[in-house]
Amino acid sequence: MFRQSFGERDGWGLWLCLSFYGFKLYFYIAMHLIQVDSVQRWMEDLNLMTDCECICILQSKPISTEEDAESDLILSSPHSSSDNLQLLLKRAWIISTELTRIVQKLEKNRWQRVHNMAVRVNCHVRSMINEYNTFTRNSLEEMHQFEKLLIEKCSELTAVTERCIQTEDEQILKSMKTCINVTLTTVAQCFGQLIELALTHEIQILVRQINSSDNLYTTESATSGLFGLTQEGAHLCRIMAKEGGVVALFKVCRQDCFRCLYPQVLRTLASMCCVEEGIHQLEKVDGILCLTDILTDDTHSQTTHAEAAAVIAQITSPHLAFTQHLSSFLENMEEIVTALVKLCQEASSGEIFLLASAALANITFFDTMACEMLLQLNAIKILLAACSEKQTVDSPYSRDQVVTILANMSVLDQCASEIIQGNGVQLLMAMLSEKSSSGNTAEVAACERVQQKAAVTLARLSRDPEVAHAAIKLSCIPRLIELCRSPTERNNSDSVLVACLAALRRLAVMSPDGLEDSDFQQLVKPRLVDSFLLCTNMEESFV
Ligand SMILES: *[C@@H]1O[C@H](CO)[C@@H](O)[C@H](O)[C@H]1NC(C)=O
Ligand SMILES: *[C@@H]1O[C@H](CO)[C@@H](O)[C@H](O)[C@H]1NC(C)=O
Ligand SMILES: *[C@@H]1O[C@H](CO)[C@@H](O)[C@H](O)[C@H]1NC(C)=O
Ligand SMILES: *[C@@H]1O[C@H](CO)[C@@H](O)[C@H](O)[C@H]1NC(C)=O
Ligand SMILES: *[C@@H]1O[C@H](CO)[C@@H](O)[C@H](O)[C@H]1NC(C)=O
Repeated sequence: MFRQSFGERDGWGLWLCLSFYGFKLYFYIAMHLIQVDSVQRWMEDLNLMTDCECICILQSKPISTEEDAESDLILSSPHSSSDNLQLLLKRAWIISTELTRIVQKLEKNRWQRVHNMAVRVNCHVRSMINEYNTFTRNSLEEMHQFEKLLIEKCSELTAVTERCIQTEDEQILKSMKTCINVTLTTVAQCFGQLIELALTHEIQILVRQINSSDNLYTTESATSGLFGLTQEGAHLCRIMAKEGGVVALFKVCRQDCFRCLYPQVLRTLASMCCVEEGIHQLEKVDGILCLTDILTDDTHSQTTHAEAAAVIAQITSPHLAFTQHLSSFLENMEEIVTALVKLCQEASSGEIFLLASAALANITFFDTMACEMLLQLNAIKILLAACSEKQTVDSPYSRDQVVTILANMSVLDQCASEIIQGNGVQLLMAMLSEKSSSGNTAEVAACERVQQKAAVTLARLSRDPEVAHAAIKLSCIPRLIELCRSPTERNNSDSVLVACLAALRRLAVMSPDGLEDSDFQQLVKPRLVDSFLLCTNMEESFV
């Protein structure tokens, strides 16, 4: 899922994770579904609201959400499944925050605070259950049992903490503390299971809607609900796959009347396939065949093709160990690779090129045969040409995909002449100077990969004297020396350093006179590891 920018999680996440590891996930989910400003508003309203709710509870009245500070938010929109979830997760977020604080105050023996917070948790748990049941007809029987248990345990927590403020006996307090801890743990577990069940239930509803819909609007909104949830992490993707999400989405992709939804449906599938269960389900419903049909059907738009390519990129991701079992992929590989090369060639935007080339790059990891196919299909020429089109290859991310493909293909001997013909050496030289313009962490990392793989490709291709001479003519040697000697040129990256040393050594064999003696003595003559240590040590004297 490389189109999303990760790493912008806000600070609450970690803080909440510390206390109950069993909870981690739910904090994480809650964090992202809730817009920051609504959290702030919520927190500001918190004291007021809790007072109101607690009075309600003390008077044993059902809690009315209409009087709630969030009432306009709740009532202004129709209650789709995802709205229920949003509401549920907001409450869950507050409850998990309070539980975490209780643990902290408990450690400091702040009994009054502990009790106050226990009362608040009690209120919020009741409100959460109440709201959820108001908006969700037919909730699961299983859930009611957890709800009952949770309410019971919360009352217990309130009762025990109340006794704590009435005593000063250290011994009693100590045993109470253990007791509170046990109760808290049970509350936390119960709460976690309840949220899990609720999530599963809401996902089931969305999947069922997609599975049985013949209506464009229903399918669209349920798909967009699922897509939103896939963005909340792998755990939800796992539940979705288990509940038939992949199967239902492929069913949509086989119905012509839903054509206009294909891009969105495929994008959701790509997200769901970041987990093993998703890929497993995809195999079970012949998903690869379906993707191949879409990719090779010229009546589909490029956007649809690109989203199908994104699914292919996802399921062939080299960091997913379980993709090795995709036997049906091999059967369709030639058609897929052909379609992807065509898509790279005709791509009308940077995004489309990125998706198609990422799929190709991943496929070259997947199987050696792919590189031979690419060579047959003139892929080198096409990719090199694309790199000179500023509007298609418009970012270090795209160049990363291209140079990954080139690096892997360069193990094949025939590759060298193709590279020469397409001015590939020039391109690789330019890639050695890849620099991030934004300074954004993900982009900086992409630039490093581009530099590293460009050096690897140059080293591999320089087995061929023609390539080596072309590189030397383009002043490749001084640039490689600069990358080795100046840490800022490679942003301190060790992997770039190793690749550059390797490339430099290859070229030095061809052109021993091209180097100053000191460069030769330090960068070429010693064992690779000694040159490496020498250069990384330079770093320290710089810093
Ligand atoms: C509470 O229980 C957990 C294990 O469930 C334990 O790690 C922690 O130290 C306990 N804390 C207190 C204050 O007893
Ligand atoms: C989807 O619909 C089919 C019938 O068309 C049914 O057999 C299957 O159980 C449904 N799956 C889900 C998850 O609802
Ligand atoms: C494979 O695809 C994933 C996206 O699904 C991407 O993150 C990764 O960079 C790709 N790998 C390669 C080698 O291009
Ligand atoms: C592509 O390169 C990666 C690492 O650079 C390697 O693990 C993979 O085996 C290569 N694939 C082929 C087909 O050579
Ligand atoms: C180098 O990379 C680090 C992360 O490893 C990043 O924080 C820093 O901004 C980068 N420097 C430059 C000059 O890009």
